[in-house]
Amino acid sequence: MYTFSNAVNSMHSEDIKLLMKMSSGKSLISFAGGMPNNDLFPVKEIDDIYNSLSENVKKLCFQYGPTSGYPPLVKSLQSYLQKKGLPVDTNKILITTGSLQAISIITQEFVNQGDIILTENPSFVGALSVFETYEAEIHGIPIDKDGIDIDALKQKIASLDKMPKLLYVTPNYHNPAGIIYTPERKKALLEVLSNTGIILIEDDAYSDLYFREEEKYLTKSMKSYGVSDVEIIYTGSFSKILGPGFRLGYMLASPEIFEKAETVKQALDACTSNFMQILANEFLSQNKLQPYLKFLRKEYAERKNILQNSLKKYMPKEVTWNEPKGGFYIWLKLPEHISSTEIFKESVKKGVVFVTGRTFDPASKKDDRLRLSFSNMPKDTIEKGVKILAEAIKIVIDNSKIEIS
Ligand SMILES: Cc1ncc(COP(=O)(O)O)c(C=O)c1O
Repeated sequence: MYTFSNAVNSMHSEDIKLLMKMSSGKSLISFAGGMPNNDLFPVKEIDDIYNSLSENVKKLCFQYGPTSGYPPLVKSLQSYLQKKGLPVDTNKILITTGSLQAISIITQEFVNQGDIILTENPSFVGALSVFETYEAEIHGIPIDKDGIDIDALKQKIASLDKMPKLLYVTPNYHNPAGIIYTPERKKALLEVLSNTGIILIEDDAYSDLYFREEEKYLTKSMKSYGVSDVEIIYTGSFSKILGPGFRLGYMLASPEIFEKAETVKQALDACTSNFMQILANEFLSQNKLQPYLKFLRKEYAERKNILQNSLKKYMPKEVTWNEPKGGFYIWLKLPEHISSTEIFKESVKKGVVFVTGRTFDPASKKDDRLRLSFSNMPKDTIEKGVKILAEAIKIVIDNSKIEIS
């Protein structure tokens, strides 16, 4: 006989598994996956890169590397992050196996069972699962179209009888909410955290994926603001700009936090794949990233526009959303009494899937939203998918009217 741990029994990914089960074996139009479309990957560029490597470097690909990361990639990343204004001279980079691993390392570094972690509500479900693994007490703070609700955050901190260890946020092109924090909201957030000892995890997986050059300035990270009274750990990822199959992420943190993180990583997987680090480094150092990002921004903006126009055309008037300025997601708001899980049941029958709202609620309750991802969608199926989804939503709304009357 065996018993599973408390942590694994309470993990959020159960919801996602259930959705997968309900939709398995069917041919579906999927707004569910928060990943790039296979047809967009830089396959040819990576072919060329591998073929251009010297025999010695090819051999290195197969080898273990330093825990902190393949040194030439660390150097290339320093220059990439420096261009974003990040303090790479006073902080250190740790390469991780996806940025989810960075979130996991940070949690392991600071959080004991029962410690409090603040997150946005909604929040990236992968991070929520990590926090649950470490048996943290998670408190969600609502967000609006401009970022985290500052008053709610202040009230939450004041109401707790011990200080939270961490606040985890995704300010740029939020997953799932699609929003970007205004500079004012970023500043206000730092003011609230000032001298509280709460460490800010700034998850910046999407900032390169803005749709309009003139709005790029909005992506400026809080870590680059130069404040000294808030400890900020910045995390980033290659998953949305090169491919999740690379499993490459990183964190930028003060030397002391970096050092302990390196020790944690040593025990987790010793090092991140040299193979992937070498390919990614060549991609950066051969100046292939910027032209590729330009291509991606155009592709995603087109998908977002088609989705936005289709939603306008087909959605019932009770359904609302904010048009995103970048990233992968549109976050639909339903009438409060309507549950996106009910809509899912209806729409999966008709061949369309998405991710339900409650998946992203730390308490797994609030369900009057749903996430549509346009990044993985072929352009010519978006409209058809929205039309079907709108029909499913109308059925659930109409049924709820019958139940009420
Ligand atoms: C906000 C956010 N952070 C981190 C990640 C994880 O990225 P990685 O593949 O680098 O672990 C994702 C992936 O969906 C994400 O949406």
